[in-house]
Amino acid sequence: MDYVIEIENLKKTFEDKEILKGINLHLPREENLAVCGKSGIGKTVLIKCMVGLMQPDSGKINVLGKDMMNPSLKDLEFIRRKIGFVFQGSALYDSMSVRENLSFTLKRSTFSGSKTAIAERVEEVLESVGLVDAIDKMPAELSGGMKKRVGLARTLIKSPEIILYDEPTTGLDPATSMEINEMILDVRKSNKVTSVIITHDMNCVRMTSDRMLIIHDGLIYTEGTFEQLKSSDDPWISSFFNKKEE
Ligand SMILES: Nc1ncnc2c1ncn2[C@@H]1O[C@H](COP(=O)(O)OP(=O)(O)OP(=O)(O)O)[C@@H](O)[C@H]1O
Ligand SMILES: [Mg+2]
Repeated sequence: MDYVIEIENLKKTFEDKEILKGINLHLPREENLAVCGKSGIGKTVLIKCMVGLMQPDSGKINVLGKDMMNPSLKDLEFIRRKIGFVFQGSALYDSMSVRENLSFTLKRSTFSGSKTAIAERVEEVLESVGLVDAIDKMPAELSGGMKKRVGLARTLIKSPEIILYDEPTTGLDPATSMEINEMILDVRKSNKVTSVIITHDMNCVRMTSDRMLIIHDGLIYTEGTFEQLKSSDDPWISSFFNKKEE
């Protein structure tokens, strides 16, 4: 099997707090995996370890064939080019317009095109998230949903092989959430990416994921398809599905 992410017995402690106690995870190419679990359980920590934004204490992480436990600078550059990270907040630069935010990202990557090529790529990617009209707006002028879409555009502009979404629909109304879910599916189809989607939103899990897992007490408590876990006899698992949207 062609795994793009392989994680074995991953552990991470902060001071005396053991957050990840032995996570095992294998992600095949083009899978959409949803990662669920209570707030503060270590979901963001897990995906930060995948991109080398955080160093785990022990275990193994291999991403796109690179050892992320001891990455060389070259490997880190490679991984950051190949992995898009859609942050929990949209993390846009407030003093830059949408166009500037996107061109800046592209210029900082290895994209070596002319000014015109950059402008074309910015427009193309904004079109794919339905936001061409907002190209000259400042982040403060955008709604929450629009910001999430610009965040996604900023990730897509580098044509990543893997996308890590941290709470892509949190704080959005149901209709806008649905648009984002559809976009996550479109992105996989058109760009053939593998995705990890961290979410509390069960509609998002149902719509976007092939497989979901729930982290609890530092370990993967359970995994399966949305339907399998939804019909589980375990009352604790069921409680995830009966919860009101946050
Ligand atoms: N850099 C850090 N230094 C110290 N502790 C940290 C750091 N980053 C995260 N933690 C702690 O690790 C735990 C897990 O944090 P994490 O952000 O991964 O939670 P989460 O599952 O993503 O929660 P949420 O659903 O609220 O986003 C928390 O207790 C947090 O305080
Ligand atoms: Mg988080």
